[in-house]
Amino acid sequence: MENIFLRKVGKYGIRRATSRDIADVIAINWAALPEHYSDSFFEERLQESPETFLVAEDEASNIQGYIMCRIEYGFSNMRRYGLARKGHIVSVAVLEEHRGKGLGGVLCEEAISGMGQRGCSEVYLEVRISNQPAVSLYEKLGFKTTATHRSYYRDGEDAYLMSRPI
Ligand SMILES: CC(C)(COP(=O)(O)OP(=O)(O)OC[C@H]1O[C@@H](n2cnc3c(N)ncnc32)[C@H](O)[C@@H]1OP(=O)(O)O)[C@@H](O)C(=O)NCCC(=O)NCCS
Repeated sequence: MENIFLRKVGKYGIRRATSRDIADVIAINWAALPEHYSDSFFEERLQESPETFLVAEDEASNIQGYIMCRIEYGFSNMRRYGLARKGHIVSVAVLEEHRGKGLGGVLCEEAISGMGQRGCSEVYLEVRISNQPAVSLYEKLGFKTTATHRSYYRDGEDAYLMSRPI
């Protein structure tokens, strides 16, 4: 698999996901996040934008993290007026025992690079306001909080909308 890695991070490799990875990605999603999606939603994101659906695998080819995004067209989150092609980070997660090794950051960077290839001029995401590790990660990557969505999550928690130019 070595030759298809976009980037190496220590013993891990970052590569585009394939349909064969979806079951592992769903398992990580259930282990790491309270927000879940139908199987077909994951498949659709992969078909629609393989450049921005990436996985991190270890030296035994086991998947330990993923990022899944959407390419959208709508009102800019960065400018007051105007439309923009936007990359939306829908879901990113790394299994707990593999965190703090740079995987989350590199998954985001490589997905944002894929958004650039797809002609996006900005990237955005929603994050729970209590999710300090994720907020810190996005700030380190240059994201700024551009809005707060009240009661965005089913349990009533607010979300920060964080954005960055590409
Ligand atoms: C958020 C998440 C993806 C980060 O993945 P990771 O591989 O551990 O992140 P990295 O090792 O690349 O860390 C990059 C930066 O993020 C920040 N960060 C990561 N973990 C952190 C923590 N526990 N506390 C504070 N900042 C943290 C730091 O700024 C870090 O940079 P540094 O190592 O130079 O300090 C991971 O914690 C995770 O899967 N969490 C559960 C799922 C989730 O919340 N996803 C985001 C939903 S919006």
